[in-house]
Amino acid sequence: MLKLLLVEDDPALQFTIQTALEAKGYLVDAVSTTGDALERLNAGEAYPVVVSDIYVDERTGLDVLEAARLRDPRCAVILMTGRGTMETVMAATRGGVFDYIAKPFDLDVLTDAIERAEAALGDDGGEAESEDMPETEMIGNTAAMVDIYKVIARVAPTDATVIVEGETGTGKEVVARMIWRNSLRAAQPFSAVDCGAIAPSLLESDLFGAVRGAYTGADRDRTGVFEAANRGTVFLDEIGDIDANFQLALLRFLENHEIRPVGASKPKDVDVRVIAATNRDLQGMVEEKKFREDLWYRLNTVRISIPPLRERRGDIPLLARFFSNKYNARYEREVKLMDTGVRALQDYTWPGNVRQLQHMIERLVILSERIDGENVLNALTAMESRDRPVETLADAAEDQIRKVLAATGGNKSKAAQVLGIERKTLYRRLERMGL
Ligand SMILES: Nc1ncnc2c1ncn2[C@@H]1O[C@H](COP(=O)(O)OP(=O)(O)OP(=O)(O)O)[C@@H](O)[C@H]1O
Ligand SMILES: [Mg+2]
Repeated sequence: MLKLLLVEDDPALQFTIQTALEAKGYLVDAVSTTGDALERLNAGEAYPVVVSDIYVDERTGLDVLEAARLRDPRCAVILMTGRGTMETVMAATRGGVFDYIAKPFDLDVLTDAIERAEAALGDDGGEAESEDMPETEMIGNTAAMVDIYKVIARVAPTDATVIVEGETGTGKEVVARMIWRNSLRAAQPFSAVDCGAIAPSLLESDLFGAVRGAYTGADRDRTGVFEAANRGTVFLDEIGDIDANFQLALLRFLENHEIRPVGASKPKDVDVRVIAATNRDLQGMVEEKKFREDLWYRLNTVRISIPPLRERRGDIPLLARFFSNKYNARYEREVKLMDTGVRALQDYTWPGNVRQLQHMIERLVILSERIDGENVLNALTAMESRDRPVETLADAAEDQIRKVLAATGGNKSKAAQVLGIERKTLYRRLERMGL
């Protein structure tokens, strides 16, 4: 007999659902508060299926979802709500909800969902759940992030140009990919271009193409990124780095959707949506006349500013849990994330934002037995002293380097990333260690 947890604060509805499900042969534990629900889940009660209202009390069905999936990643959670909004749908989807039912509903709709959940449990598709979550997953439940989800939800299906601003590591590319994945162009390519990494003299031909003989060495026609991504989405990262020449070319493209390959006499129509990102203050650059104002207005159709992590510390517990699950799975570890660890992570300022937090947790999962306050503080102190000259590195670092190298299968770039040091520093260190 399948045991089911039902969370519903409306007594009449709770009674109706419980009676109907018991009549179908389910064993139903019904509670009216999220507190009771969390208590049962945390007490280790195994519920393969949880049915919860979203708006219950000071906490919501999303908290129930999180707790249930944390206890057992295979648990199928069905949420019911009378106020289905994009952000709760998105949050529920991100949290791994099994199904989402709008109230009022026919009881058949609910029993049907439960039957599908049962069938899925039988499939034993559990293992993959805790596997690598896709890189584009966006975590965060602070008001600032929810606002961003709402903008993403609204703008994604349009073809509007979007500019994403934020410090390094705040998730600008994550936002761009999320827009693309939720857009009508999701089945078409997403091409990311790091404008800062391409020589200004090559940017135009790389992006818009060039005809044979356009410049020395152009021995054949070259298709640019925009043409290759036709009907898709182009992500222009570090847009603040483009020179005046390309600013003008890009403006022309945004105005009439034509590209003119370098050296070509005629323009070509290209259907591409542009999402741009920058960690610089573009508006300030406009005021200093370093960035064209007209281009700025064109890009600024929709503007998404991601606040730095230190201004949304409320997201840190969720991110920490997400990353520790992810890396425990990847490295086959069972490192527990303790409350003291979460608090210590929440107290830090994270100049490198989510990326830095992510690498820190990856490192802790590899190197420590548990993520508690002490280990976090030690790791933060070590990290802050790491990029100093090799000579000042403590000997304990050698042991860490060995462990991380082993975990990353000898991949030195990856190891440097996990250790939070420059690759050069790692190479120097390895040389001194005689490796
Ligand atoms: N909200 C989030 N949820 C989960 N992962 C995130 C989130 N934000 C960022 N990340 C992760 O942090 C890392 C950095 O994100 P991303 O590359 O999007 O940052 P960025 O703003 O483009 O940084 P940069 O300015 O350095 O290019 C990635 O590994 C990404 O998956
Ligand atoms: Mg980026």
